[in-house]
Formats: sequence, C-alpha cells, structure tokens
Amino acid sequence: MVRSPLHGRVIILTGASSGFGALTARRLAAEGARLVLVARRRERLEALAAELSAEAAVEAGDVTVPDDRRRVVDTALQTFGRIDVLINNAGMGRLDWLKNLTPAEIDRMIDVNFRAPLQLTRLVVPHMLRAGRGHIVHVASLASFIAMPPYVIYAATKFGLKGFADALRREVEPLGIRVTAVYPAPAWTEFPDANGESVFRPFFSSRRWLFLDPERVAGAIVRALKRPRAHVYVPGWIRLLIQAEALSPRLADVVIARWITRPHWQAETRRQNLEGERDLVDRD
Ligand SMILES: NC(=O)c1ccc[n+]([C@@H]2O[C@H](COP(=O)([O-])OP(=O)(O)OC[C@H]3O[C@@H](n4cnc5c(N)ncnc54)[C@H](OP(=O)(O)O)[C@@H]3O)[C@@H](O)[C@H]2O)c1
Repeated sequence: MVRSPLHGRVIILTGASSGFGALTARRLAAEGARLVLVARRRERLEALAAELSAEAAVEAGDVTVPDDRRRVVDTALQTFGRIDVLINNAGMGRLDWLKNLTPAEIDRMIDVNFRAPLQLTRLVVPHMLRAGRGHIVHVASLASFIAMPPYVIYAATKFGLKGFADALRREVEPLGIRVTAVYPAPAWTEFPDANGESVFRPFFSSRRWLFLDPERVAGAIVRALKRPRAHVYVPGWIRLLIQAEALSPRLADVVIARWITRPHWQAETRRQNLEGERDLVDRD
C-alpha cells in the first residue's frame, strides 16, 4: 500500500473541538499524521483523541492567550520533536449590525480570528525555518473577499488574515515553507450556535440548504496539505462570485442592499414598532 505523504507529519490544528477542525482531525489521523489538537473544550479534544487511530496530543487552551500559544508549540516539540504543519482554523463570528456589537465583542473577534493566528504563526515559523520546510494553513473565508453587512467585523478580520497569508507566503516560500489560505463559503457547523443571537439567525435557520457540507472543507484542507496551493476556494465556483464582485463592486452593493440589508432593517424596524406598541399596551 502507498503511504500517504502526510504519514508521520506533526500537525498543530487549532479549533479541533468542532466543525471543520474536528472533521479535519479525523481525516488527518486516517492519513497517519501525528496531531496536536487545540481548543478550549478539553473534554471534546480528549474524546476526539481517544477516537482517533493516530498519535494525538491534547492541548486545551485559548489561542488568544500568549501562554497558551507558547504551550501549544512546546507540547508539539516535546511530544513529537518537530512541527511540520500549523493549521490556524480556530475562529468565531458574532454576525450583527455594527450598532449591536459591543466593544468587547469586536475586540474578541479581532483577537481570535486575526491576532491569534498571526502570533501563533510567529512562534512556529522559526522552527520551520530551521528545518528548511513546513506548511502553514490559514482557514480564512469567502468573507475575505466579499464583505457582507452582517459580517462587518468578521469580514474585516478575515480580510486581514488573507493579507497576512499573502505577504507571509511571499516572505517564507522561497525558504521552503508553504502557505495556504482556505476560503470556505458558509457551512453548517457549530459556528452559528457558538456565537450567540443575531438578527440574521431566522434568515440562516430557514435556509440551511444554502450551506456547504463541512466535510468538503475538511477534504479541501487535507488535499491542500498533500498538494500545496496558495489559495483554496470551497466550493471552487465561489471564485466566479469573487471575480464578479471585484469587477463590479457597485453592482454587488445594489444586490446586497436589495436582498439582504433592506429587508433586515425593515424587519428590525417592524419588530421595534411591535415592541413599542406592546409597551404602550402594558402601560395601559
Ligand atoms: N462555518 C462557516 O460558515 C465558515 C465559513 C468560512 C470560514 N469559517 C471559518 O472556519 C473556522 C472554523 O469554523 P467552524 O465553522 O468549524 O466553527 P465551529 O464549529 O464553531 O468551530 C470553531 C472552533 O474554534 C475553536 N475556538 C474558538 N475560539 C477559540 C479560542 N479563543 N481558542 C481556541 N479555540 C477556539 C472552537 O473550540 P472551543 O470552543 O472548544 O475553544 C472550535 O473548535 C473559523 O476560523 C471560521 O471563521 C467558517
């Protein structure tokens, strides 16, 4: 039997406790990779590690905390002696109008989706440079290209992550380190439930059929590790949407305003009017 090119590779995977991360962990384990599973929910990671047929170390921690990030790197080096791959997958998004987001929610999104992957990459790169090889994968988003109104801060973090991935690739690829950015379309994972209520929840919940099967994202990440590429779009046809938006951003503004923004503002105004009327009735 032909051995997978991922066999024996030491892979740090953040956000491994659910969604794309957990599915990717299962696929990587089947390829014989050795994993460092990172997320905050230890019990989830331990259950996943127990189920995998591969060597897996569990590192429960918060990627926004500097000591936790350092522990992730130390665990990989102490357990397996090297780091071949870093997958920056942990992420979150409170999808709401800017006026509804608190300063703390905004900072949290920037910390988890943008600052943490940059800082974890900074810790890992010197080890890869010494080895003269390595692969860094960032799970960005379709929102790295097409910024939608409910994704107002989320899109900013994912645009930033794309910029980081592009510049880093040009910095380290000549030295043997591959850099890939993965751009998934919306997929039904724990993402909506993990990130609280938003005005868009009813819209999303009634249109689950629009969402991508998260297995496709996990499959695309594993393929990108076997055959490295700079950009991975999931599904591939979203490149057409991205090109259309780049060619005619004004048209995109009109379509998004017509189909998303205006109906939601109108629904919110109606809801507020109803609540106002109810308050008046209660007072009577
Ligand atoms: N689902 C989508 O529609 C979609 C589309 C495009 C891109 N993405 C991106 O794909 C990535 C994975 O999302 P998903 O859909 O799989 O969502 P998910 O099911 O909610 O998984 C998110 C993962 O990130 C971890 N995480 C969150 N905050 C963390 C923190 N501070 N420290 C450590 N781990 C943290 C969570 O684990 P704990 O809670 O245990 O810490 C969980 O394992 C994210 O970067 C997301 O932005 C998602």
